[in-house]
Order: sequence, then structure tokens, then C-alpha cells
Amino acid sequence: MKQNYKGIKFLTPYFKAHKKSILLTLFSMVGVALSSAFTAYFMKPLLNNLFIQKSETMLYMMPLIIVAIFLSRGVFRFLSAYLSERIAIEITQDIRAKLYKKVLNSRIDAIEHKTLGDINTRIIETVLNLHQIIAKTIPNYLISLFTIFALVGTIIYLNWRLSLFAIIFAAIVIFPVKILGKRVKRHVHKAEEHVRELNERINETFNHIDIVKVYNQTKKEEKRFLGYLEDYKRALLKLVKYQELTSPLMEFFVSLSVASVIFFGGYEVIHNEMSVGDFFAFLTALMMLYAPIKITTRNALMLNMLDSYIDRVENILHLRQEDSSKADITEPIREIAFRDVDLTIGTKPILRQLNFTIEQGKRVAIVGKTGAGKSSLLSLLFGFRSPTNGVIEINSKPLESYTISSIREQFSYVNQASGIFNLSIKENILYGLEYDEERYKKAVATAHCEFIETLPGRDDFIVGENGKRLSGGQRQRIALARALYKDAPIFVLDEATSALDNNTEALIQESIASIMKNKTVLIIAHRLQSIKQADSVIVLEDGAIVAMGSYDEVAKTEAFRKNFALGE
Ligand SMILES: Nc1ncnc2c1ncn2[C@@H]1O[C@H](COP(=O)(O)OP(=O)(O)O)[C@@H](O)[C@H]1O
Ligand SMILES: [Mg+2]
Repeated sequence: MKQNYKGIKFLTPYFKAHKKSILLTLFSMVGVALSSAFTAYFMKPLLNNLFIQKSETMLYMMPLIIVAIFLSRGVFRFLSAYLSERIAIEITQDIRAKLYKKVLNSRIDAIEHKTLGDINTRIIETVLNLHQIIAKTIPNYLISLFTIFALVGTIIYLNWRLSLFAIIFAAIVIFPVKILGKRVKRHVHKAEEHVRELNERINETFNHIDIVKVYNQTKKEEKRFLGYLEDYKRALLKLVKYQELTSPLMEFFVSLSVASVIFFGGYEVIHNEMSVGDFFAFLTALMMLYAPIKITTRNALMLNMLDSYIDRVENILHLRQEDSSKADITEPIREIAFRDVDLTIGTKPILRQLNFTIEQGKRVAIVGKTGAGKSSLLSLLFGFRSPTNGVIEINSKPLESYTISSIREQFSYVNQASGIFNLSIKENILYGLEYDEERYKKAVATAHCEFIETLPGRDDFIVGENGKRLSGGQRQRIALARALYKDAPIFVLDEATSALDNNTEALIQESIASIMKNKTVLIIAHRLQSIKQADSVIVLEDGAIVAMGSYDEVAKTEAFRKNFALGE
């Protein structure tokens, strides 16, 4: 088990937390092992005293003893199985909770290259495998190991010369089992990869089920899924093959061992060097050794996987986390300044040399074509990413000098995708905040969410995954109402009204304008309509600022005309 050093090391603190249960489990396991040894040893008095000496007391004693042995064995077995499961459940739930927390708090740039399917597989499937190892593999391994010790002790006690032959034959089996173990490990890995693929396919097809259907790809997607299933099946079958090959192999070596004992032991019995009872007790113990040897080797094979499961778990546990060790910002944000900010993702420059400031109470609009880098700029402001060069300063101090959560506290945000949860309308608007009727009504009215009245159940209407039971414009208005309800000092609206018709947009602009009079507002838009009231306008092109100033100043520039060529 040397190669599992890492896995065991990882689990040690968890085991330590369950020290008492583990001690009790180990105690029960020893009980199970001893009961096996007793059962074998029982043959000796059974034959010698009951059958050969024909002792009548034994006739009454023996049946009672055997029932007592099996009864206590049952109690020990139950205890060790129940406790092992309980320990496993507690440890793995704990690990799952930790993994989820890590994913939630990790930096966006640390997880964006992972698929949802991959993260899902690690938190659910890998931890389930881990559960299996803690609840079944390790306990079975230990019980069998203890049983082997007890039975080997018994045969040595009964006849040490004879036990030498038996043990030598049985020990040879270790070598082929080791080789098979490597194969098993490889195929367990493959099988897990395939589960991840399956997960990803399911997520992707159901996330875009309408596209799949309209492009008539259901058959193709089905075929693709079947292909993945086929790969998974092949990996599983190979795995089973190598796992199951160990048994017949071992049976062969055990038969050699038993044969040698029958020959040499039989010789000793014929020549009166060994009693019949000793011989049968010996043979019984030897035969009983087969099962625990089989179980230990099989479980040793499975234990080989522990390290790789832990690797997969640790991969998530080591995700770079958002830093929470700084000081909270205690004052209102008076100024946000981008100074020579560059952002490169991979090798692609996304933002270049950004220099601008946003002052408290001002409205700043950022405009530019799709892909100009508008949303990326926000990802820097919210600390999802860090600038490749330059700094973002909040009240003249680097953004990084504050806890990012305290900065975010000061923002009301509507993202481009509306970010709607599969909850009720009301829960979406409150999103984690306490309900306040007046504030709620005001937010709903300002965002022109009159449509709520027409929904079945009104505020309690459950909007479906990604808000799919609402229209795009309705989703945007809910998202806006959420931002208004939070009523933070700074509003950031990323194309927050893009899905609305001109009339509704104008209505909302108007009602928002009055609400946001003394707020700082950063509005991202591609429509002129939404930026006319801005104090300053920044035009982005290919990640660089190409014009900046008041609306009237910027409107005269070539860059502005270029970006609003359609004369919206
Ligand atoms: N996570 C990412 N990895 C690589 N490139 C990205 C990533 N996010 C955005 N981009 C690229 O950055 C550019 C700007 O994107 P974005 O900021 O979303 O533009 P906008 O919001 O102005 O439409 C695009 O070319 C886009 O492909
Ligand atoms: Mg965008």
C-alpha cells in the first residue's frame, strides 16, 4: 500500500476526527477474525473428544459453543459494517461540502477552463468512489487481513511444519496479483474519464435543447452519446476482466497449498505424528483462508485507486481561492480608477492600456461593438480576473488591498445574461436579502415588471432553469428589479435593456434615471438611446479606448460614428 501514502495522508485527519468509532470498528473486526479462527480450531475437540473419545459432555457443549461463536460473530460483523458506513458517510459528506465551497469561492479564472460536467463528476462520482473505499474496501481489507492473521496463527499453533508448505504456496500468488492490479488501476481511470464525458454531453445537450432540436441533431447527439456509452462499456468490461482474473488464479495456488497439506498431513496422521482432530482443524483453517486472501487482494487492487481519487479531489481543493484575508473597505467608493490596465487571456490581448476614472455620483457609459471588451472590463472591476498590467484603484488604493466581497457589496449588478435562478420571481428579486414590502414594490415598479401580475401565482411563479419560462425581456426586467432592490451605491448595467423594445426601454430609462440620481452608474450599452444621459462616454474598440469625454464631445468623433454606423 506504499503507493497510497498520499491518499492515506489526506484521509488521516478525517479518520482522527472519528477516532472512537474507528477504534470500536477495529475491535469488532478483530472479533470477526477471532471467531473465524475459533470455528476452524473447533474441529479439533469436535473430532478428538466428541467422535474419537465419544465424550458425552462434549455432545451437549459443542452445539452451544458453535451457536455462541456465530452469534457473537454476527454482532461484530454488524457493528463493523454499520460503523464503517457511518464513518464513510460522514467523511464524504464533509468532503463534498468542502469541494462545493471551494468551487464557489475559487477565482473565476481558475475554474473557467473546467466544464460543469467535470466539476459535477468530481464532487458526486469521485466522492462516491471514495465513499466505497472508506465504507467497504478498507474495512473488508482489514477484516480479511485480521482473519488471515488469526487463521495463520491457528495453523502454526496446530502444526508449524505443515504450515510452512501451506504458506509458501499461498504466498506465490502475490506476484501475478500485483501485475493485474496495475491494469485494474488504468481501466478505473478510463472508466471515470468516460463518466465525465457522459456528464458533459448531458449538460450540453440539455442546456441547448432548442438548438439541438431545430437543427435536427437529436439523432446525431443520440448517436454520439451511444458512442460514449460504448467506450464506457468497453472500459468497464476490461476492468471486470482483470478484476475477475485474480480469483481463478488464486484458486489454483490455493489448491496446490491444500494438496500439499493433504499429502504431508495425511502422512503424519498415518504415522501417528498428528491427531485426526489436528489435521481437520488445520485443513479447515487452510480452506477458510481462501476467502479472506481473495478479499484482501481484491480490495488491495481497489485500494490502488485511492491516490487517484484523492488527486481528483485535491485538484478542486487546491483551486486558487479569492483572497479573503485583506481588510474590508469601510468607506463608500468615491473613485474607481483604471491606470494603464492591460488584460491578456492566454495569448490573446483583450484590453489594452485602459486609463479612466469613475467618480462617485457620476454616470459613465461604455460603448463599443460586440467583442470590444466591455464585459471583460467588468470582470476586472469585480475581481473575477486580475489585470495583466497596470492597476485598478479604489479610493486611490489598489483594488487588491481590500476584500473583494466588501467591494462587491457596494455594487448592484445586472449582467448580460440576466442571471436568473430556478426559483420564484420573488426569490430571484430578493436573492438572499430580507423582504421589505415597500422596497420590493418600488423595485418591481421601477423595473416595469407589470407582467408579474399576469403570471400564475404572481410573485411565487417559478421561472424555470435559466428563467426559461420567461421571455428575454421579462428576465432582464427581473434582473433589473433585483439590482434596484439591492439598491447599492454603484449600479453596473451590462446591456441590461438590450432585450427590451424601444418603448419599454425608454420607460425604464426614465424611471431608473430618477432612482439613480445620486448613484454612481456604469452603463454598458450598444444602443445610443441608453447612454444619452451619461456624464461621460467611453468608446472601446478592440480592447482600447478610442474616444472619451462628454456625450457631445464624443458624438463628434470619427470613432463614435464608426461604432454607431447604423445611426441608431
Ligand atoms: N474567458 C475568456 N477567454 C478567452 N477570451 C475571452 C474570454 N472572455 C472573453 N474573451 C474574449 O474577449 C473579447 C471581449 O469579450 P467581451 O468582453 O465579452 O466583449 P463585449 O462585452 O464587449 O461584447 C472577445 O474577443 C472574447 O472572445
Ligand atoms: Mg459583453
